[in-house]
Amino acid sequence: MIAFISCLCHGIVLASILLTPAGAGIFGGTDVLYGRIGTDITLKCKAANNRIIQWKVNGTFVTLSNNLKEQNGSLVLLMADLSMEGNYSCHDETTRLLYLTQLKLGYPPSKPLVHCVASNFYRISCMWENSQEGSFPVRYIATYRTPSSNIFNCPRDSLSNICQIDNPQMFASLPYVINITAVNPIGHRTTLLDVMLFDIVQPDPPVNITAEPVFGSPRRIRVQWDYPLSWGSQFKLKFVLEYKLQKYNFWSRLDTKMTTEIITDAIAAQLYAIRVKTKDFFDNGKWSNWSSEVFVTPWRETTTESIQSTVTTQMMDFVQTLSQSTTPTLSPNVIPSSSDVLDRNIVILISIATSIGICIAATTFVLWIRSRRQESDKNDILTKKALTL
Ligand SMILES: *[C@@H]1O[C@H](CO)[C@@H](O)[C@H](O)[C@H]1NC(C)=O
Ligand SMILES: *[C@@H]1O[C@H](CO)[C@@H](O)[C@H](O)[C@H]1NC(C)=O
Ligand SMILES: *[C@@H]1O[C@H](CO)[C@@H](O)[C@H](O)[C@H]1NC(C)=O
Ligand SMILES: *[C@@H]1O[C@H](CO)[C@@H](O)[C@H](O)[C@H]1NC(C)=O
Ligand SMILES: *[C@@H]1O[C@H](CO)[C@@H](O)[C@H](O)[C@H]1NC(C)=O
Ligand SMILES: *[C@@H]1O[C@H](CO)[C@@H](O)[C@H](O)[C@H]1NC(C)=O
Repeated sequence: MIAFISCLCHGIVLASILLTPAGAGIFGGTDVLYGRIGTDITLKCKAANNRIIQWKVNGTFVTLSNNLKEQNGSLVLLMADLSMEGNYSCHDETTRLLYLTQLKLGYPPSKPLVHCVASNFYRISCMWENSQEGSFPVRYIATYRTPSSNIFNCPRDSLSNICQIDNPQMFASLPYVINITAVNPIGHRTTLLDVMLFDIVQPDPPVNITAEPVFGSPRRIRVQWDYPLSWGSQFKLKFVLEYKLQKYNFWSRLDTKMTTEIITDAIAAQLYAIRVKTKDFFDNGKWSNWSSEVFVTPWRETTTESIQSTVTTQMMDFVQTLSQSTTPTLSPNVIPSSSDVLDRNIVILISIATSIGICIAATTFVLWIRSRRQESDKNDILTKKALTL
């Protein structure tokens, strides 16, 4: 009761095609036959010898057609398509089962799409996408060749699609060659990728960005940040700091090698957005992504102090309660919304207007008193004159 499947010259692939002996067990046993869509597939019933053979598919006798033929006891599927999948069995003249196989059709794997990244000089990580074509199980073989031409397995966690090269040679003039080979029961495809560590290295964005007003300096903002944790501390980074008025879209730029900078040309009392990116100090590789943005308003004089001398105490109290209720105390982490800023500005305007009004009223009053006095003086003189007359 032995049977086997033969392979026609024009492209049928045997279920037994596998790249390495180690992988041979993965794709099931003798019960499943994998074939490539669009090729001719011959199912042979070897045990038949000279006996009369009958074929069944899915349990019913096959009906021969243009693309389904019997040849010397074998069943030939021409230009196999998915509808021809099924359970095929051959039987002798007494319909005794001789052999049963499940036929599955599909395509060889597609070429893996591979890319490699390095967020520092200590590790190259390569990843690839799962092959979507066909329903066949695909497995991947990941290896790499070092600049000195040694070949290693590229280690990965179980069956994830990421493998890692740890502590790669840093100053090699030749690339690492990554070899990702996709294997399924009917074929394999390889992608080779040249990787130069110094070209692909890209730090993660700077972290812990803080921006705070500088006390007494309405035009300054102090910004600090940290190296991304993934970079390690052994190699230096350089940075670009960008800042803009939150409501506009024009970034100003500051290049620096430090992790703290002072912006000196901010506009007082305006909300600023700030972000930082980084790159290897010696310009290898790529710029990081931008950090997340932080927001800050530069320091400003408390309006109440400047008004105090000119406004009455009552007015003063009013302004104070108003500004206290609309403006939270400024700390680096508390950012007043622009409507708060607006409210505050209105309060300032009102208080200035009021104080000017009070000044004018006071002055007018003084002038009026004076003119009254002058008038009464004049009247006195007139009366005196009249009396002397
Ligand atoms: C073919 O056989 C397999 C395994 O015995 C079974 O799971 C499947 O349902 C069968 N398919 C058909 C269409 O009979
Ligand atoms: C069928 O069998 C005959 C005789 O056994 C042989 O001559 C012939 O080549 C076979 N045909 C095919 C397609 O295998
Ligand atoms: C066998 O059954 C499967 C599942 O129902 C179906 O997809 C397939 O087309 C059938 N095969 C044939 C040759 O009818
Ligand atoms: C890539 O890897 C596959 C599987 O290990 C191997 O068969 C093939 O020869 C390799 N190709 C190169 C160019 O190293
Ligand atoms: C970010 O700040 C936190 C709290 O200050 C600190 O624990 C952490 O180490 C900082 N991260 C980095 C990468 O320096
Ligand atoms: C950079 O940002 C893009 C878009 O948000 C993201 O897809 C990518 O993974 C990021 N790259 C790094 C190195 O963080």
